[in-house]
Amino acid sequence: MTALVPASEIAVVGVGADGWAGLAPAAREALAAAEVVIGGPRQLALLPAGVTAERVPWPSPLRPAVPGLIAAHAGRRIAVLASGDPLFHGIGRTLAETVGADRLRILPHPSSVSYACARLGWPLEDTEVVSLVGRPLAGLTAALSDGRRLLVLSADADGPAQVAALLADRGFGASRLRVLEQLGADRERIVEGTAAAWSHPAGDPLNIVAVECAGPRSPLVPGLPDDAYESDGQLTKRHVRAATLAALAPAPGELLWDVGGGSGSIAIEWLRAHRSCRAVSVERDPARAARIGRNADTLGVPRLRVVTGPAPAALAGLPVPDAVFVGGGLTAPGLLEACWQALAPGGRLVANTVTLESEALLLTWYRRHGGELVRLAVAHAVPVGGFTGWRQAMPVTQWSAVKPAAESIEEEVQ
Ligand SMILES: C[S@@+](CC[C@H](N)C(=O)[O-])C[C@H]1O[C@@H](n2cnc3c(N)ncnc32)[C@H](O)[C@@H]1O
Repeated sequence: MTALVPASEIAVVGVGADGWAGLAPAAREALAAAEVVIGGPRQLALLPAGVTAERVPWPSPLRPAVPGLIAAHAGRRIAVLASGDPLFHGIGRTLAETVGADRLRILPHPSSVSYACARLGWPLEDTEVVSLVGRPLAGLTAALSDGRRLLVLSADADGPAQVAALLADRGFGASRLRVLEQLGADRERIVEGTAAAWSHPAGDPLNIVAVECAGPRSPLVPGLPDDAYESDGQLTKRHVRAATLAALAPAPGELLWDVGGGSGSIAIEWLRAHRSCRAVSVERDPARAARIGRNADTLGVPRLRVVTGPAPAALAGLPVPDAVFVGGGLTAPGLLEACWQALAPGGRLVANTVTLESEALLLTWYRRHGGELVRLAVAHAVPVGGFTGWRQAMPVTQWSAVKPAAESIEEEVQ
């Protein structure tokens, strides 16, 4: 039966490295019935002469061109070629976001990671996947932990050497690497070695790096050791940091403003909570702002946005946050008001201080908006002569509150 696609529907056909030979009958029929086939030049070249549709290569940059290109062929039967599974790091996502998922008829092919797991005998659901396509290499660090299996999607032929160098630099030199090239094609090849001793010349640009991590373990919950951070002393210390992240309560996809970023630890641990979390760190001191960027790279969250400048002025124009942390600048005029006003309804505001002046301000806000006012007093056991005693750190006052869904204007101006 020919699966004739109505003209308003776009067939999105996943193609493997084996081209036409590897396509299922439904995928072949969709391409045979198309009047226009849009794809990358490499994918279009895989089609046999029997596919008579007009062949249209994607322009570059692709995303802004998609709606116009689809509109230009309105009324004709359109098929789009995708590599592997269209919805796995592919054109399927762009199409769903630009023309709408309900216009798409998606015909998936096994993805490159399905092929890789098949070759390695790794269960797909236990394998972490990290893409380096259009993303910084430093993001790989967040996935490294002793005993984990990773599949790294390389951006090009240099990917394996870059992965090996990063692993060696982060204490994972003993990790076993296997580079799987041209999965599913005649030229398929696997190259193997360890990260520290990697010396293979660059191979095929289409490759996935399978990593069996051998190195330090990476804890999942907030409260990394203080020495995980480069710092000039402006750092929310481990126990208070863990309590602060608990109050901020990151959920997938949420955005944090970390105001008075210092060394960046609050924003960094927020981002490590989930790969879809987003954060902006605002720091007035340029040297500290640069340090925040370095800490974000080292700890695997290069997506942290750092804004250099004094709050509240530097907050103007930032996207609406789901949570705000104020770690510095509490007494700057209008800072707390600006943060509270910007916060999304239902969002959390958490502010920490060690000074009495700022504590007085937090008491005022606590009386006005409720929430929780707590005092965190951490002491560490230290040697006292031949004995052991407590050394008390400066107590931290923490106010946290949830912004009500609808707050009256009178309350705002009080
Ligand atoms: C105690 S540190 C914050 C520590 C940080 N949470 C961490 O763990 O790295 C306070 C920081 O706020 C910054 N700061 C103070 N007032 C500010 C303002 N108005 N705007 C932006 N940053 C400010 C200071 O430069 C300092 O780096």
